[in-house]
Amino acid sequence: MLATKIRAAFAPCSLGTWPAPLEAHPALARALGLQALWLKREDLTGGNKVRGLEFLLASAPPRSVFVTIGATGSSHCLATARSAKAQGYRTAVATFPQPETDVSRAVAASTAATANLVVTASSILTLPWAVLRAWRVAHHLGGGTPRWIPGGGADPRAVVGQFLAALELGAQLDTPPDTIVVPLGTGGTAAGIALGVAWLGWSTEVVGVRVASWFVANRWRTLRLARKTAALIRRAGIDFSVPRSAMRVRVVDAMGKGYGHPTREGERARALAAEYAVRLDPTYGAKSFGFLQRADVNVQRVVFWHTFAWP
Ligand SMILES: Cc1ncc(COP(=O)(O)O)c(C=O)c1O
Repeated sequence: MLATKIRAAFAPCSLGTWPAPLEAHPALARALGLQALWLKREDLTGGNKVRGLEFLLASAPPRSVFVTIGATGSSHCLATARSAKAQGYRTAVATFPQPETDVSRAVAASTAATANLVVTASSILTLPWAVLRAWRVAHHLGGGTPRWIPGGGADPRAVVGQFLAALELGAQLDTPPDTIVVPLGTGGTAAGIALGVAWLGWSTEVVGVRVASWFVANRWRTLRLARKTAALIRRAGIDFSVPRSAMRVRVVDAMGKGYGHPTREGERARALAAEYAVRLDPTYGAKSFGFLQRADVNVQRVVFWHTFAWP
């Protein structure tokens, strides 16, 4: 089985309890005019970033210090700090400001309480200096060489973890959905899902709902990450290929004024979901769920990737 081969080849560490549940939501589907709606509850297993961190933290020497970046309310930074701590490693994070909401404040507070160092830049323009400082201090935090994790964990090794999530979905559904909706930030999550869907031979379209700047959240980068991940799996000695045309990724914009700024569409979606006991965050979940409320959207059987784990 492919998932077993991948786990044997990459030896990921264990940070979550898989599979993440797949929940059917018939009443919410009806409210949205859909035939069927499932939520892939990545939020219940620590959030989508944990999938990638199992691979990014794998086989690191003891006392390693991981350095990464993100916005002040970045769940990637929080998940990195938590996962590293659980494995006995340390973290130094460099952050840049984002609009404050209750949720972003809670994530920032939790990151500050978990990471060994948080360097906060005054703006995104001064982020490089914050990164430099975090990197320098990281040398003294653990004793080993610091290890870099790119923003959002967008690295082919992490995408392998997202790919496994899609294979997991393949075992949870008898017939493919016509659409999978996922928030698009740095692209790794959507890349892994698209690769998994292609491998499963599904004709499902992956809709990446862009919640960050086009500079990081775009189709080109997502597909490139997916291709690099396929190459990485092959380099591990596993016979693996999918045709490029089988990766169906559509990017739709829902960012509004900027990353982390709540939007009217998103907040409307958040309110509707809450009526059905589905709790969404304003930055990722609400904006991407909002896609399903758009009048011009013609989708029927939908899996919504619920990614945000509450701190
Ligand atoms: C809660 C949450 N959902 C979705 C995403 C988007 O994932 P990706 O960066 O892999 O596109 C992120 C990224 O930080 C996230 O924190």
